[in-house]
Amino acid sequence: MEQVLRNFFLFLSKNKFFTKLARRYGLRFGAARFVAGETIPSAVETIQKLNEQGLSVTIDHLGEFIDSEEEAKKAADECIEAVKAIAGHKLDSQLSLKLTSMGLDISYDLALDNMRRILQVAEQKNVFITIDMEDHERCQTTLDLFKELRKDYENIGTVIQSYLYRAVEDIEDLDQYSPNLRLVKGAYKESPKVAFPDKKDVDENYKKIIKMHLLNGNYTAVATHDDAMIEYTMNIVKENDIPLEQFEFQMLYGIRVERQEELVKEGYKMRVYVPYGDDWYGYFMRRLAERPANVAFVLKGVVGK
Ligand code: FDA
Repeated sequence: MEQVLRNFFLFLSKNKFFTKLARRYGLRFGAARFVAGETIPSAVETIQKLNEQGLSVTIDHLGEFIDSEEEAKKAADECIEAVKAIAGHKLDSQLSLKLTSMGLDISYDLALDNMRRILQVAEQKNVFITIDMEDHERCQTTLDLFKELRKDYENIGTVIQSYLYRAVEDIEDLDQYSPNLRLVKGAYKESPKVAFPDKKDVDENYKKIIKMHLLNGNYTAVATHDDAMIEYTMNIVKENDIPLEQFEFQMLYGIRVERQEELVKEGYKMRVYVPYGDDWYGYFMRRLAERPANVAFVLKGVVGK
């Protein structure tokens, strides 16, 4: 049943007809639980509330289906505006983005130019930018682009996915850049040719890269909702006297909210990934597909209003 629901939501996430319908009628269901509105002001309001609770943030402008240079430039302009809003409102927030929305599928140089434009402003405003990691096909190009930018900018990081066989090698290779990396298990459907098909191997590799990156002395963002991985990190940190300033936990907006608050109370840095933008529909459907149990939360929210 769970697999049927998962496939159903993944189908809805990619369906242009339902995307249009949802937008036209403002059919927001319970999306507000996972998405901070459609505009920068609504995102600012959400960040302020989270900051008041002691939570740090990274915001992500939801932009998919980029197929022209103009759209990519527009997406980069939106990121620049978001960076300015973060600085202008003195928010405790970083920015996350996807290279495909910067035009990576059109050309490497277009994405690089857009990234340089954003990073110049972000550097002046002291805002950190993380390049999200997309599917395996784009992994090498994303890392190449990250390395090129890292030579010129301090305020940039990226993501390593433990489901990929290459993850350990990438951590070793990137060490020379002393990178600030977000470590995740990985969210895309990948072939067993490139990724561990078994969850237990993904989890073991996740532990491996957390330990490696921390012991290399690099800043580590452990982005997971999994208590076993959180506890593992806490133990490694304790055993090796790693300072609190060298790592943080990250979770998605609206997921395990109580656990997020607990971690803050326990003295850990906790960053929430907050998506916003009018392309909220695909993101929302993917969250439901990831964990059909979320549907129950959403329905409660709808019925409760
Ligand atoms: P996993 O799915 O393995 O679940 C383990 C346990 O965690 C569950 O048994 C349950 O106890 C708990 N749990 C998980 N989800 C829950 C939920 N919704 N509600 C309640 N409990 C839950 N991926 C990627 O490919 N590229 C990227 O750039 C990013 N970026 C990113 C940023 C941030 C801040 C986060 C948190 C995640 C990402 N991801 C990502 C997604 C990531 O790769 C992964 O798909 C999800 O985090 C799910 O994996 P987990 O490690 O959370 O737990």
